[in-house]
Amino acid sequence: MDAADMGNDLAEVLISEQQLNDKLDEMAADIDRDYRGKEVLLVGVLNGAVMVMADLSRRLHTHCTMDWMAVSSYGSGTKSSGVVRILKDLSADVMGKHVLIVEDIIDSGLTLSWLIKNLASREPASLRVATMLRKPDAAKAHVEVAYCGFDIPNKFVVGYGLDYAGKYRNLPFIGTLAPHVYRS
Ligand code: IMP
Ligand code: MG
Repeated sequence: MDAADMGNDLAEVLISEQQLNDKLDEMAADIDRDYRGKEVLLVGVLNGAVMVMADLSRRLHTHCTMDWMAVSSYGSGTKSSGVVRILKDLSADVMGKHVLIVEDIIDSGLTLSWLIKNLASREPASLRVATMLRKPDAAKAHVEVAYCGFDIPNKFVVGYGLDYAGKYRNLPFIGTLAPHVYRS
């Protein structure tokens, strides 16, 4: 999918595919440097983190395994509810492992701060967070982020894994939607 397929649903491109790719190179280099000689367990948060996980993991020289969790704090709207439910748990134990949570976006931080507490209680050797996007002005919970792609304004964004009502995840860039999309 590209901008042309969006017609007039796309308001603006916030972060281009090239910018995402350059940032992924930087993030992977930072992770390789920090985890040298170790094996890392990448924990992707479904569904949004699928793109970041695929693109970041393929850039790593560090040996890694991958696992996935699905949590829910959002309906199909654009506001965080703060209520977190585990829809799918990890398939294996993380005790003694170097866990790196891979996220698409930190908005209020409520989901992730809950997830960090939950995973920390399982006694991993280490626990860090990598996210492609963060909205500093939307923060309601403090989350320590080791690897952050871009700090963005407090706007609802789609693309690169992020959806509105389930759609637009397959856009290769990050963009905002025209107001009429939210009304229809
Ligand atoms: P938080 O708990 O508010 O930090 O955000 C939880 C989840 O809401 C994120 O992992 C995303 O899946 C989703 N989300 C937050 N902001 C946006 C956005 O701007 N566009 C699409 N999804 C979002
Ligand atoms: Mg997410």
